[in-house]
Amino acid sequence: MFEATASAPVNIATLKYWGKRDVNLNLPTNSSISVTLAQDDLRATTTARASSEFAKDELYLNDTLEPLGKRTLQVLAELRALRAEIEQKDPSAPKIADLKLQIVSVNNFPTAAGLASSAAGFAALVKSISLLYKLPHNDSELSVLARQGSGSACRSMFGGYVAWEMGSETNGLDSRAVQIADVNHWPNMKALILVVCAEKKDVSSTSGMQITVETSGLFTERVNTLVPELFVKMKKAILDRDFGSFAKYTMVDSNQFHAVCLDSYPPIFYMNDVSKSAVRAIHELNDQYKEPIAAYTFDAGPNCVVYYLEENEEAVLSHLGQAVSNVNGFPVEKMGSTPASTSTPKWA
Ligand code: DP6
Repeated sequence: MFEATASAPVNIATLKYWGKRDVNLNLPTNSSISVTLAQDDLRATTTARASSEFAKDELYLNDTLEPLGKRTLQVLAELRALRAEIEQKDPSAPKIADLKLQIVSVNNFPTAAGLASSAAGFAALVKSISLLYKLPHNDSELSVLARQGSGSACRSMFGGYVAWEMGSETNGLDSRAVQIADVNHWPNMKALILVVCAEKKDVSSTSGMQITVETSGLFTERVNTLVPELFVKMKKAILDRDFGSFAKYTMVDSNQFHAVCLDSYPPIFYMNDVSKSAVRAIHELNDQYKEPIAAYTFDAGPNCVVYYLEENEEAVLSHLGQAVSNVNGFPVEKMGSTPASTSTPKWA
């Protein structure tokens, strides 16, 4: 029996990926940027085993046997092909490429956190199997495989601040994640998750983004003009540790992403009244301070992720606590604040 374990963190995009130019390879219509959430608190950990005693490939997610989806099978096939190449070149390498795999993945973040687990999950799967197969590839090269499982997963191959460069090649080999800055670059950056609703979203990201690509007129302007500009500006704001600019671009992008969802036909609504009250509360707070001290961003769901600097924590928490918990008695649950920066992934 051969075995390897690896883990990968959750990431939250501050410049969103929304739209595929190639559905099979998961190639995006635009580049994106994310911040990785605290590695120790919010991670998927995966153990991969290969053995001649296994009759078929199996995947367990949080102790439940899951069917192997098309994308998982595609990622496994690619990983096996890379291992087979090694075995062909080096006859002394153990023959494990053809052995069946048992993959056991556990998320240490509560389902009630309302966070999508696919990004961390696919990243941990690729890391653990690449370790098992002793693949010589670096994290950026491996992110090309994670991307095929779930686009946003490629960014979970790194900690800190990460860009997914959309690439231009049709084979997708240059559509991969690169680290913009590591954990230590901006140690006082914090993230707070406001859990508005922990249930699964109505329209999955995968299908929602294709409805937008096919029907939204605003979408073309977003991917051709607005996102390329924001990509350059946001990267610079991160490298300069310019929170005001980082916050503004993050909010502008979140708003625009939800605007193209609304511009889709039929329209897609991810934010609800509680989400909107969080937006208003943060703008109110930023107005009081005459500069952005907090930034909101919403993925394909109503939950709000707020970025702020540690020195402003009290102001942000108390203002949001008052403003958001009053809205229609919705159960807004604060998960606590976690450092957004991360340490280097530990490989078991
Ligand atoms: C709104 O990565 O879940 O979170 O590639 O179809 O698996 P697939 O989509 P997925 O989409 C994430 C969308 C988003 C924005 C982002 O994370 O960049």
